[in-house]
Amino acid sequence: MTTVHAGDIGAQIHPYTNLSMHQEAGPMVITRGEGVYVYDDKGNRYLEALAGLFCASLGFSNQRLADAADRQMRQLPFYHAFGGKATEPSVRLAEKLLAMAPVPMSKVFFANSGSEANDTAMKIAWYYNNALGRPDKKKIISRHRAYHGVTIATASLTGLPNNHRDFDLPIDRVLHTDCPLHYRYAEPGESEDAFATRCAQSLENLIQAEGPGTIAAFIAEPLMASGGVIVPPPTYYEKIQAVLRKHDILLIVDEVICGFGRTGNMFGTETFGLQPAIMTMAKQLSSGYLPISAVMVNEEIYRALVEQSRKIGTFGHGFTYSGHPVCAAVALETLQIYEDERIVDHVRRIMPQFQRRLADLGEHPLVGNARGMGLIGAAELVADKRSKAPFPATAGVAAYAGQRAALHGVLTRALGDNVNVCPPLIIEPAQIDYMFDGIHVALDDTLEWANRTGLRAQ
Ligand SMILES: Cc1ncc(COP(=O)(O)O)c(C=O)c1O
Repeated sequence: MTTVHAGDIGAQIHPYTNLSMHQEAGPMVITRGEGVYVYDDKGNRYLEALAGLFCASLGFSNQRLADAADRQMRQLPFYHAFGGKATEPSVRLAEKLLAMAPVPMSKVFFANSGSEANDTAMKIAWYYNNALGRPDKKKIISRHRAYHGVTIATASLTGLPNNHRDFDLPIDRVLHTDCPLHYRYAEPGESEDAFATRCAQSLENLIQAEGPGTIAAFIAEPLMASGGVIVPPPTYYEKIQAVLRKHDILLIVDEVICGFGRTGNMFGTETFGLQPAIMTMAKQLSSGYLPISAVMVNEEIYRALVEQSRKIGTFGHGFTYSGHPVCAAVALETLQIYEDERIVDHVRRIMPQFQRRLADLGEHPLVGNARGMGLIGAAELVADKRSKAPFPATAGVAAYAGQRAALHGVLTRALGDNVNVCPPLIIEPAQIDYMFDGIHVALDDTLEWANRTGLRAQ
């Protein structure tokens, strides 16, 4: 029997990993969790500053979720939803989600991941327009730096170069418009409002160039998380939504990260005043404990699906594990815990401290811009604060900062030039301080390293 370390190198392909470096470095093996902490196989404790992958909202040892899984496993470990079959947990979960929906929604479709939910939303937008006799209205507009998943269609929606490069993506029918990050993309002296107007005009120009009759939907994360925690200017969405309404373009809101309290409301849709026709959600839906995602559609879309399936004979879409009873039971219990523990109130109570500590990181010589909302934030590292000049992409400066943070007991994840922070929602004030203290020392270490290696002009 190999060690876990050797076995991993010998047997496993890791997602989002430099596979070549991994052959030398090997894995970090995580063995157990407790509250907001996880432990590695050497017994080191880490505060999980990214809630795993933006998902473990209730931390890593919630007993109620373990019990809910256990109960359902024993009652009925699997049944599917094809051909009109139902299990109680998925029915109750759908009802619950509809009751929580921030805008009127009609029905819920279950899948297993954020990617599958967005893939489904895209297919529904196409099916809907075919049902309405608009076969040309099929293109989906996403944004540069968006993250919507990694399937062929959703990696195409994703607006990050590494998800396209050498995978021969994006596919046609997917377009990208401006990223609403004022810090990087505003003209010198341009106000946030003027920048928002320019983004909306740019969207209008794209739609006109393609032909409004060819555009089915616009997809947006309320705030763009993986692309660098990009919080759009306050007037951005009212201007964008006016353009969408004018051209009868569906708004798909991707709540995969914002959903369930992250921005200080139950949904990012509320925080940003959005009017989606379709919403997708995953991750915190089950606190990441089991894979489950959901797509909610409004009544108008549902009616079109019903009509089209009557014509064809079926709604020919679904996953073996759509509405999996154990995943649904755990998601339902997660939502009950959010209610019982008043999780949104908790987030609102602690988010001023979180945002204050995040803003303090902005004073660090390496940080060009610290930004965030609710319990999510990013510190964008730059070689020169004044000119905003980035470090060379190959230098891996944010990745280095992440490694140093781990040495100081805090696990985070570098995404591009950003150090992202998105802890479990149950985090307490003293843990927020511990987390930011660790990141601060890691940035000091990184500054010393960048100066020593000549990466940064002094
Ligand atoms: C906003 C958003 N949408 C979709 C996805 C894809 O989810 P998954 O990794 O479960 O496919 C992610 C993953 O991070 C995400 O952040």
